[in-house]
Amino acid sequence: MHRIGIVVGAVSLFVAVSASASPAAPALDPAGTGSRSVVEVQHASPTRPLIAVSHRGAAGHAPENTLAALDAADELGAETVEIDIQRTADNHIVLLHDTTLARTTNVESVFPDRSPYLVGDFTLREIKRLDAGSWFAPSFTGERIPTFDEALDRLERLDLNLFLEVKEPALYPGIERAVAEELAGRRTWLEHNPAWEPRKLIVQSFDWDSVRRSKSLLPSVPHALLGRVPEARIGEFTWAHMINPNHTTIDAAYVRRVQDAGLEIMPYTINDRQRMDHVLGLGVDGFITDFPDTGQRAIADFNGGRDAIDRAATPAPALVRY
Ligand code: G3P
Ligand code: CA
Repeated sequence: MHRIGIVVGAVSLFVAVSASASPAAPALDPAGTGSRSVVEVQHASPTRPLIAVSHRGAAGHAPENTLAALDAADELGAETVEIDIQRTADNHIVLLHDTTLARTTNVESVFPDRSPYLVGDFTLREIKRLDAGSWFAPSFTGERIPTFDEALDRLERLDLNLFLEVKEPALYPGIERAVAEELAGRRTWLEHNPAWEPRKLIVQSFDWDSVRRSKSLLPSVPHALLGRVPEARIGEFTWAHMINPNHTTIDAAYVRRVQDAGLEIMPYTINDRQRMDHVLGLGVDGFITDFPDTGQRAIADFNGGRDAIDRAATPAPALVRY
């Protein structure tokens, strides 16, 4: 077990307690209220800090899954972003959430005869003609759908970590291998970063078979299962590092069950500050949000005023788990 539960009445006790805590995990906050005034469930990883993962780039501030969204995440102080990937007709990996191009581009006006506008029916050259920014705000007009390669270049330049969601992999047989081949040329993504820092790369999907295939191709990379894995099945996934469910589907008991199995848990997608405070009280390891600035503030407050990522205050790792 790498997760430690601690009951404290004041946030200020946390650092001192966590540095010396035993791995015993008492039953905490059984009602799952997340109340901080009486009994508090503290995030107590001996290793990684809490993080607010900036969703689809930074979807609250810029058109999702674009380079502008990655820039926005960086400007807002995020250290980790989430993006979605799919594959074009000519086998290029691009950033897109929906399986169709309709919602987030002007495809219907550029290619009016190509309904239902599936990304897998378009070549990269065609996709690069689309405007992926003006639907969000006029100031983003001309923003393009980036390739995975272009996104990695930008992430490396900005020194951002990545939660990489493989979207609908059943539509794109072999996409896990294509991702692995892309990353093979960029070794920094495959190396273990220090255990007291946020993870460099997580590969995740709602398709757990795809996650397993990816893990076999990228054994050094931690992987996450999206969705709520039933309690009775969590033991099947000890090769994974994370379970990331919808935040509305979890309570303190579920968080504890995941962490007792040696996995981390970072629910999605939380944009409401009160809800962020609530899941932090449940003891999660982080959460995914369209608003990384709000998320960072929630974590800093939860940490008793320390920055969301405060390495100087992070205890030396007692356990390194890859
Ligand atoms: O990172 C998890 C989250 O992104 C899953 O939901 O629909 O936004 O991809 P969705
Ligand atoms: Ca996603």
